Amino acid sequence: MKDVRKVVIPVAGWGTRSLPATKNIPKEMLPIYNKPVIQYVVEEAIRAGIKDVIFVTNRDKAVIEDHFDYNLQLEGVLERAGKEDKLKIVRDVAEMVNIMSVRQKKQLGLGHAILCAKELVHGDPFAIMVGDDLMFGGIPGIGQLIEVAMSENMPVVGVMEVPWDKVSKYGIIDGEEVAPGVYRVRDMVEKPNREDAPSRLAIVGRYVLTPDIFEYLEKVKPGKGGEIQLTDALQMLAKDRGMMAVRMSGMRFDAGDWAEFLTANVYFALQDEELRYELLGLLKNFVQFQ
Ligand code: UTP
Repeated sequence: MKDVRKVVIPVAGWGTRSLPATKNIPKEMLPIYNKPVIQYVVEEAIRAGIKDVIFVTNRDKAVIEDHFDYNLQLEGVLERAGKEDKLKIVRDVAEMVNIMSVRQKKQLGLGHAILCAKELVHGDPFAIMVGDDLMFGGIPGIGQLIEVAMSENMPVVGVMEVPWDKVSKYGIIDGEEVAPGVYRVRDMVEKPNREDAPSRLAIVGRYVLTPDIFEYLEKVKPGKGGEIQLTDALQMLAKDRGMMAVRMSGMRFDAGDWAEFLTANVYFALQDEELRYELLGLLKNFVQFQ
């Protein structure tokens, strides 16, 4: 397989679980401690050696692309005020990655969002990182998948073990473990009932795919609400071409879930030495007060 140099990050969803916060702000721009959600995702891609980012956006998401571009007016203000440290922070974000974007004009599901990126992917193997799924700790999540995709020359999905009562929220794989944490995928099923689930290995928001996925996405019949499911296309690709799954190490936060979003905020704030003690003190007082 050729090197994986591009990542598609779909960010075109409505973010209804996060309303009213997301009425006018994209979910991906909500802050986790001092950075927007999307910056953590892009930084994970960079750590895995990816520099070309394709955002799948909608008309209200231009602010995401702007975040990774220069803001000359702000830079001028910071320069004149002698705030060199802040100037470096905002310039570094602008210089992180090359940005391309394509609009998903109708929100017809994750599979449809990926299909919108077909022309920009341009026949190369590529990564997908779901724009509201955060992975931390150890080797960058998407890097774990790239390693297996290159060595096996096959598409790879990232999976994590979820409790049995949560399997109905995910795509679940049926696989044979061929090395510790590495599975050959036999089949997969989207949001199964607990009793029908072949395992509790849930597909999370990281994939390394080959461009033939687009042929399958074009064949997928729209399901509920006209949505085109990525899992349906992955299932066909796995049957015809073969597919691997990697049980990802590290922690995961779904930024669209309030409990996980808030936990991620505390997690990152606690990594900051200066803030750590102040925050712990305030939380302690707060718990005592409850
Ligand atoms: P989610 O279902 O988590 O996101 O989709 P959502 O639809 O924005 O949020 P809720 O469920 O209404 O709160 C997973 C990812 O796929 C993108 C979303 O932006 C998110 O990053 N997505 C989803 C699209 O780009 N287009 C779609 O049509 C659907």
